[in-house]
Amino acid sequence: MKVDVLLGLQWGDEGKGKIVDVLTPAYDIIARFQGGPNAGHTLEFKGQKYVLRSIPSGIFQGDKINVIGNGVVIDPALFKEEVKSLQASGHTLTERLLISKKAHLILPTHRLLDAAYEQAKGNAKIGTTGKGIGPTYTDKIGRNGLRVGDILHNFEEKYQRAINRHKEILKQLKFEYDLDTLEKEWFEGLECLKQFQLVDSEHFVNKNMLEGKKILAEGAQGTMLDIDFGSYPFVTSSNTVSAGACTGLGIAPNKLGTVYGIFKAYCTRVGSGPFPTELFDDTADEMRNKGVEYGSVTGRPRRCGWIDLVALRYAIMINGVSKLIMMKSDVMDMFETIKVCVSYKIGETEENDFPFEITENLSPVYIEIPGWKTDMTKMQSEDEFPEEFNAYLSFLEAELAIDIHIVSVGPDRKQTIMRYNE
Ligand code: GDP
Ligand code: IMO
Ligand code: MG
Repeated sequence: MKVDVLLGLQWGDEGKGKIVDVLTPAYDIIARFQGGPNAGHTLEFKGQKYVLRSIPSGIFQGDKINVIGNGVVIDPALFKEEVKSLQASGHTLTERLLISKKAHLILPTHRLLDAAYEQAKGNAKIGTTGKGIGPTYTDKIGRNGLRVGDILHNFEEKYQRAINRHKEILKQLKFEYDLDTLEKEWFEGLECLKQFQLVDSEHFVNKNMLEGKKILAEGAQGTMLDIDFGSYPFVTSSNTVSAGACTGLGIAPNKLGTVYGIFKAYCTRVGSGPFPTELFDDTADEMRNKGVEYGSVTGRPRRCGWIDLVALRYAIMINGVSKLIMMKSDVMDMFETIKVCVSYKIGETEENDFPFEITENLSPVYIEIPGWKTDMTKMQSEDEFPEEFNAYLSFLEAELAIDIHIVSVGPDRKQTIMRYNE
């Protein structure tokens, strides 16, 4: 059995959490392969809303096993908060959540370093989530990181060595901080983490694959935030693309199955960095209000704009997407016409390929499509789709050369329409 992957094709927050939850009944194991508590994956069902950061979005469905893979970075303090809030809502986790020994630990000083680097960048700051993601992956690549498995042997010594090194850097950056409270919460979190099964997740995943178990790899962030292919340097510090599922879980490339690429019917972005189709007018406010486009964890307003097919085609290519999922179709219900960016104009030339850099002289080329002006939120099958919406879907499918298998018409689990007998 091959491993399927579900990942974001835009700048994150596409609705990955909701769809992983919807697809979970068809799988035995859900595994996160990268990112950390910078993610905020929202799920809604039975009138309740949950936001997950490091825990995979399969956790609410019965006895499914959820795995935090080696490619993920974990902050024990935030992990404990997440566990506590799930337990408070009646969900037991310890039997069903496995954590890779090779996942890297976000230390309290990584969070401080994140803030210090952002401060030092001034106007050029990335607008990170402030969770220590960049510094933790930097230490991983620089071969200075601490891993979950390190907790089990001689941890104090390794921890102190890392903290002292970070303190030196913070001193050089003249960054003021109070570490005591952060450390206290961090070590309490570590005790919580120890209660879970810390495993060699690459063996677990591969053995289960051989036994014919169905596994879904859950991505975080989105392709345009990928460290290699995103709008560098305004990106996150991990490989968010399908190849990241191989390194982040220990799956061989020839073992990847369906790649689900998920996108919104428009675009959003949080933090700094280029966004070719960004809007600054009333339309952006309408999208933000109707789509409740505020960070799931930080509450930051998300920047909004029209759908960008140049960026989407690029993301589909890099990920080898085989099935598309379109989210938040209902947010477009109110528009008379919908704009779709089909190419970029760079200077006098029209370009279809996503360029090395998004520069000042780049402008999106739009075509306008008639809107459907119909409330889609209560629709249950594609038979109910308005004619204009069908035309919009067909247009996107033709432009992207892949079928849209799932259409989401609201935040609830039930507001999901399967097409092509998904
Ligand atoms: P993720 O990070 O990709 O899991 O996405 P987020 O949870 O950060 O952001 C998606 C937001 O949109 C959440 O608030 C979801 O509850 C909400 N959402 C998901 N699908 C839909 C949809 O089809 N329509 C609407 N209106 N909201 C949706
Ligand atoms: P989910 O999984 C949207 C953005 C930050 C910032 C940049 C780098 O919910 O889709 P980082 O803290 O990772 O160093 O920040 O990446 N970012 C996200 N934007 N959704 C996310 O996750 C994000 N995770 C990071 O806003 O611009
Ligand atoms: Mg999110």
